[in-house]
Amino acid sequence: MSGSVMTDQLRADGSLRHLLTLEGLPRTQIERLLERSQGFVRPLGATPAMSRSLAGATVANLFTEPSTRTRVSFELAAKRLGAQVVNLEVQLSSRVKGESMLDTVYTLQSLHVDAFVIRDAEAGVLGLVAANVAPHVSVLSAGEAHVSHPTQGLLDALTVYQRKQRFEGLAVAMVGDIRHSRVARSAWHALHTLGVGDLRIVAPPALMPERDEFAGCTRHTQLATGLKDADVVMMLRIQKERMGQGDLPQGAAYFAAWGLTRERLALARPDAIVMHPQPMNRGIEIASEVADGPQSVIRDQVRNGVAVRMAVLAEVLTSRAGGA
Ligand code: NCD
Repeated sequence: MSGSVMTDQLRADGSLRHLLTLEGLPRTQIERLLERSQGFVRPLGATPAMSRSLAGATVANLFTEPSTRTRVSFELAAKRLGAQVVNLEVQLSSRVKGESMLDTVYTLQSLHVDAFVIRDAEAGVLGLVAANVAPHVSVLSAGEAHVSHPTQGLLDALTVYQRKQRFEGLAVAMVGDIRHSRVARSAWHALHTLGVGDLRIVAPPALMPERDEFAGCTRHTQLATGLKDADVVMMLRIQKERMGQGDLPQGAAYFAAWGLTRERLALARPDAIVMHPQPMNRGIEIASEVADGPQSVIRDQVRNGVAVRMAVLAEVLTSRAGGA
């Protein structure tokens, strides 16, 4: 599987301009983003963090794939920092996708859009846009095909850190459809860079990625060995939209072999946390008793998503020439 067009994400002064992938992003940059994100986290029930620091900036959300959490949290993040937001659900045929996306971007750029948040099912479109926007404009990925989902990787790392207060020495099991998962790829890049030594990918052979991917992770085709003594269990949805009909495991059969139940979770450490990026298929990759149970941090992940997107928007928009 091919990666995205690599575009330099950092400006000459080392500040973050685009965020398309966590691959190759320096550890210091990831840590800085996590620290800034934590500063925007508020307990539920409290007033959310808000400022006018991005007043005058305009953010456009361009989504060609469905999204609930990511789109809403990017929108709230921009608004809570005082930016203006436009949302476009773009319907493009894949044949003309790159070209049409660029035309849309050029139009919005003329309307003073400063940051584009893009979700697209085709690998490479984000890199194409980033390579063609004006120098003061930033491009942020909200999920690129199976390739990357960097703000998800950051929010996952933040969630782990909040609960465990460290990355070193942790055992993290990512379970399910790793092969087609941009969430797993970005979590791998983040957690590997941050020093997690025991990173496991746990999946049936058909859902394992190619051998040349996920360097540094151990591979487990048995759920029990993959879960054993894990500190963090990250469950992933089967990406039906990214696979052919043939290699689809059946729902109930998949749950019987691979679903995370309370009994299976007992194989992990007693204080293990359970994560899921959502949308969840209850009764397929995860039982409701686990998703809603005491070890679940799934709702923390959603809350952290807004904080991470605030941090990323603030980082790219306030560090450009002349500020926001
Ligand atoms: C994920 C995605 O779109 O990659 N959702 C999300 O952004 N939280 C996960 C998924 O769709 O399975």
